[in-house]
Formats: sequence, structure tokens, C-alpha cells
Amino acid sequence: MSELEKEIHKRRTFAIISHPDAGKTTLTEKLLLFGGAIHVAGAVKSNKIKKTATSDWMEIEKQRGISVATSVMGFEYDGYKINILDTPGHQDFAEDTYRTLTAVDSVIIVVDSAKGVEAQTRKLMEVCRMRHTPVMIFVNKMDREGRDPFELLDELEEELKIGVRPLSWPIDSGQRFKGVYNIYQEKLDLYTPSKQTVTESIGFKDINSPDLEKHIGDALAAKLREDIELIDGVYPELDINTYLKGQIAPVFFGSALNNFGVKELLDCFVKIAPSPRPIEAIEREVSPEENSFTGFIFKIHANMDPNHRSCIAFVKICSGKFERNVNYKHVRLNRQLKFSSPTAFMAQKKETVDEAYAGDIIGLPDTGNFKIGDTLTSGEDLHFKGLPSFSPEMFKYIENADPMKSKQLQKGIDQLMDEGVAQLFTNQFNGRKIIGTVGQLQFEVIQYRLLHEYGAQCRWEPLNLYKACWIESENKPQLDDFKKRKAQFMAVDKEGRDVFLADSNYVLMMAQQDFKDIKFHFTSEF
Ligand code: G4P
Repeated sequence: MSELEKEIHKRRTFAIISHPDAGKTTLTEKLLLFGGAIHVAGAVKSNKIKKTATSDWMEIEKQRGISVATSVMGFEYDGYKINILDTPGHQDFAEDTYRTLTAVDSVIIVVDSAKGVEAQTRKLMEVCRMRHTPVMIFVNKMDREGRDPFELLDELEEELKIGVRPLSWPIDSGQRFKGVYNIYQEKLDLYTPSKQTVTESIGFKDINSPDLEKHIGDALAAKLREDIELIDGVYPELDINTYLKGQIAPVFFGSALNNFGVKELLDCFVKIAPSPRPIEAIEREVSPEENSFTGFIFKIHANMDPNHRSCIAFVKICSGKFERNVNYKHVRLNRQLKFSSPTAFMAQKKETVDEAYAGDIIGLPDTGNFKIGDTLTSGEDLHFKGLPSFSPEMFKYIENADPMKSKQLQKGIDQLMDEGVAQLFTNQFNGRKIIGTVGQLQFEVIQYRLLHEYGAQCRWEPLNLYKACWIESENKPQLDDFKKRKAQFMAVDKEGRDVFLADSNYVLMMAQQDFKDIKFHFTSEF
């Protein structure tokens, strides 16, 4: 294996996704502790946007300033290079959150054992399913009274629309939580509530050994044997390939807060989770082991200081090796650019790096050269696929509130949309501009930034819409007929593609029923 291949094969780039409060931050922190990347618990937490934050965007932004550093957290563990990508949640849940998932090779989902699958997890899982991203599930908070684990597995399968395979199994829960039987490593992990120590565990190949009674008592031992038998009967043994195809999710149980089950999750994760995978470009498939560097921009983080309109563009390296001060081709602009201070993200520090490999994320200081989806290469003309826009869920008309500044407003809107802050649609009927977002906060962000960075003022007007769907059809007469009949609800996105703005789920269903030859897509790439 070449040096390049070795570097690439040891990389594991993933995101942890969950509904707010399920324990994502706590789990991330424990993973960083194992990697020796941080030394005390609480270090990640302090960067977290407090749930109690008001809708005062500036307050959130202050905290977000720090959070650039936690956007990507890299560390070494057991010979692997791990990159965790943070997925913004809470108030700053935005399209960014979805897009981050386009830059990872796998995902860990955290579920609260008492609450099961919640809304945000369901939405993020849709993106994973679309991309066939391999998924592992961590059922957290086993130290609290939770739901019956079999019931939870059924819910995971049903709600996340993915097969599951438990690789560990809880022995009771809440106050009576005794630990888990680790099916994957054939050992018994006994639980002692303690916050920062590694679990003590006992090798246990034969669950029928009478030793089991000694550790957990007669009743629980009998129950565990019964459960394991049932599991083996119902769930086929884990086949790594079905996991890699995103069809089966291995499930672990534990308690992130008590650092219980976390190391087991991590040990299994590094072994079976994929290293960077080939990525589709319009022109061809790009394999990570190729010598030439390629990468794409999946996120742009603006510097909030109005006096320095600079950004950090986040690049996912798709193939080869990136080097500092080497010329690369910015494909859309057809220009050579070189970067003197690319940053890598180790632990929670941002530092300048000389090189980075496929799978890594680097930050490039940018003064307006980049748009979401841009490709950088060693010279080849490539355009990566898989960076769609997702149908927004909140819509407002944007109006100019200062007629003297209409040029500034236009420029501001264009640039903010390129950054991926929200999506712009233009109504084909009345020409009015509509901004669509997935989170309420984005409207405040846009208004504030238009004023402070572009000197433009905007006003919002309410607009009640359910979804924006990209439409296409091979039946042109039917498409034309649809567009005519729905003229008031037809818009174009910023690339000029037709978008149908459905004002209710019912209207959308009727449209799908009446116009059978038209395809309604909820993402811009199909
Ligand atoms: P998030 O990033 O997914 O939003 O969740 P986070 O890790 O912040 O966890 C949410 C709350 O759940 C936190 O409590 C955290 O301490 C708690 N928690 C996480 N894992 C476990 C667990 O395994 N067992 C139990 N019992 N609780 C857990 P908080 O009160 O909101 O915050 P804090 O005051 O503890 O910092």
C-alpha cells in the first residue's frame, strides 16, 4: 500500500446526528476524551449554544464565533484519524446542517432511550437514506428509565426506515441498570456510574456460563439469555456490506454522560465504518486514492465582523493530497488559486497545515471566491454531484425597505444565497422574491447581515407555503398545462429551474394525483 493509500484508509469522517438534547454534545466530548484530544469533560459543552438562548441572533452569533472551531474536530485514535463534523442543531438548525451530511462518509445517530426517534433525527436520516450513508445508532441515557429495548428497535426500523442489528444489549435500565452484554466483542460490561472513567468489562464468550448469575443475579441472567436468543432469532447477524450500503444499522446501548458503552461504540466504529468512499462527479467517478487532489466546498462560514468581510470555506477533500501554497484550479471560475494559510481542525483548535488527505476537511480563508458546491482540482474539469438544495419549510417575501439601496440589496441577497444561508425563489407570476429557509432564525440572520455587511434594508412579508418542489416531466404538454394552471404558484430557483410552491400537503397530493407524468422532487438534484 502506498503512503497515500495508508493515510486515506485510516480516515473516518463522520457526523453525529440527533434531536436536540439526546446527548450529541456529551457523546462527542467522550469521543474526544478517548482520542486524548481534550482532557476534561465540559470543554465542548462550553461552546454549545445554550438552549435557553433568546432569539437574539447576535448572542447566538457570538457563540457561533467560537463554534467555527468545533465545526470539525479531528483526533487520532488507535491508529485511525477521526474527523467529527458538527451538525448545528437547536436554533441554528439550517440547510447547513443538511449539507454537512454531504461531506461525511458515515453517521452515528444518538437516540434518547426514553424519547425514541424525534423530528430532527427523522429529517436528517432522510438525507442519509438518499445518499446511502452507513449509519450506526447509539441508544443513550440507559441510566434513566427508558422504553423497552425491543420496542425501541421496532421504532428505529419503522421511523428511520432502516434495518437494525443490536450489537450490545442492555441489562435493565434506569436505577436498576446493570450494564450491557456486548454481542460484538462477546463480553459483559458492568455499569458503575462514574463520569470520566473507562468501563470495566469481563470477557464472556458463553452467555450460558453459570458465571453470568454471579454477576447479575438469577432473574436478570435468565432474562438476558432469553433476550439474546430472541435477538439472534429475529435479527440476522450483522453483514458489514449491508451496513456499508446503508441498509442495516448496528445498534449500541449506553450512557454518554457516564461514559458507558462509548468506547465499545468507538472501537466497533473505527473497525467497520468506511474510510473515504468514491464520489460521483458529473464527468466520472472519483476515487479517493487517486494521486491528484480534488475537493468541494460544502460550507461557508462568514466572519461576522462587518469590517472584514471574509469567510472560511470548508473543503471536503475527495481524492489525493492537498498541499499548502500549491496552485489548484477553481473549476467554476476557471482560475488557479493557491492557499497560504489553509487550516485543519485538530481537537478544538484551528491550525495552519501543510498538507491534508482525502477524507479530511480543511478551511480556506475566502474573500468571496467560493460558492457552495464549487470544485477545486489539480487541473481537471470536474463537477461533484450530491450537493443538492433541500426543500425549505419556511417562506417569506423579501421586500426592499430602502429604495435608495436596491443594488446593495440585490448584491447582498446574491452573495448570501451563494454562501448557502437560505434559498431564493422568484415567483414567475408577479416577479416577487421569496426566501425559503429550514429554520426561523435564518430570516433574522439575513436581515441583520444585509444591513451590516451591505448597508441594505429588507422587510419580510408573510407567505404561507408548505414546500417547494422541483418539477420535471418528459410529457411537455402536461408540464406546460400544469405550469399554466398553477401559474400563481410557479417560481424559479437561482439556477432558473422550475419550482412549484405548494401551499399545503393536500394541494401537493392532488397535484401528484392529477399530473401523473410530472415528478415532484424535494431536493434540487434528481
Ligand atoms: P445535545 O447535544 O444532543 O443537545 O445533548 P447534550 O449532550 O447537551 O445532552 C442533553 C442533556 O442530557 C444534558 O443535560 C446531558 O447532561 C444529558 N445527558 C447526556 N447523556 C446522558 C446520559 O447518558 N444519561 C443522562 N441521565 N443524561 C444524559 P442538561 O441538564 O441539559 O445539561 P447539563 O446541565 O448536564 O450540562
